[in-house]
Amino acid sequence: MGVKLGILGLGTVGTGTVQLLQDLVGRHPLLQEIEIYRVGVRSLSKPRAVELPEGIITTDLEAIVNDPTVDIVVEVMGGLEPARSLILKALSHGKHVVTANKAAIARFGAEIFTAANQAGVYVMLEAAVGGGIPVIQPLKQSLSVNQINAVTGIVNGTTNYILTRMQTEGSNFDDVLADAQKLGYAEADPTADVDGLDAADKIAILASLGFGGRIHLEDVYCEGIRQVSKTDIAYAEKLGFAIKLLAIAKRTFSSPSSPLSVRVHPTLVPKAHPLASINGVYNAILVEGEPIGQVMFFGPGAGAGATASAVSADILNLVATLKTSTTNPNPLLACRHQDYCEIAP
Ligand code: NAP
Ligand code: HSE
Repeated sequence: MGVKLGILGLGTVGTGTVQLLQDLVGRHPLLQEIEIYRVGVRSLSKPRAVELPEGIITTDLEAIVNDPTVDIVVEVMGGLEPARSLILKALSHGKHVVTANKAAIARFGAEIFTAANQAGVYVMLEAAVGGGIPVIQPLKQSLSVNQINAVTGIVNGTTNYILTRMQTEGSNFDDVLADAQKLGYAEADPTADVDGLDAADKIAILASLGFGGRIHLEDVYCEGIRQVSKTDIAYAEKLGFAIKLLAIAKRTFSSPSSPLSVRVHPTLVPKAHPLASINGVYNAILVEGEPIGQVMFFGPGAGAGATASAVSADILNLVATLKTSTTNPNPLLACRHQDYCEIAP
């Protein structure tokens, strides 16, 4: 079996993924089965950090998703459109999709998973939340027997990097943001990071999976870190707190008409709390459930290598599944539409 990849995007994540897949040739048996067949970009003249055979890179992304020989579309271009339309087109042509695009999944997840179900194909999204941290599959599989009561996390690497450097070095917000952009942590438009919108997308996805229903973004309270000053951080420190941008989704047992509270905001976290010591680009997600109690996921939350790890693992898991169970694919492996049934937060 040969599996042809059509990769949409060759920026931070796309480049990291191509590099990792190329590095894995000869080291991972499934790489023999995988061909990087087409890579879609905006500009053909931009210098690229990876070498690909002549003719693979194209600006015609439609042609990639319409190509009948492409088996898996890897969407790492970001943004809402044309990413949404390209994903839907790929699914309608019976292609599996791997995506890192939390903005698209948080908004169009229901539409995308309906299309995937109709076509009988998979959508894999491990890289969409927590960079390299495996958290989507554990929530769907290993923790699926629990009643999840709360998901609390630091889910944006850029803002945690900024807050950490403001706290530890007294650095200026704008300088550290520029560094986060250089390091490939920030979104193409970093206001999504700084204003908490990226974290809101991620907590909406985690809450949808954890609580088994669709969370509408307009129901997520969202406040970013623009108003947090070095003075705030210094006072918090003196009083025994770290300031963290937390994304929180909680069952609110007291209010049956509004069973969930989902929000993103800077929070005073007591120094003894495990989330207080998560620094730099690292993310952590604390899941509380019955009967398991507390489980925390921790790791690098952004950047080329971390995110490529998640994207590449999704690709390889998908290829392994297709190879071993073409007639009865494991329904737990990927996100399916039933995760996005309606519930009112
Ligand atoms: P990026 O560096 O800005 O790369 C985007 C790539 O997509 C570029 O290669 C760009 O082409 C291409 N592209 C974008 N719009 C296009 C269009 N309309 N037509 C053709 N090509 C287009 O972005 P990134 O940081 O890799 O992020 C990609 C996705 O991964 C986003 O959804 C992001 O939220 C997600 N993600 C990122 C990280 C991270 O640490 N960076 C972590 C997890 C998830 P050109 O190169 O020609 O400009
Ligand atoms: N911009 C995002 C972050 C990338 O800083 O967390 C990872 O999703």
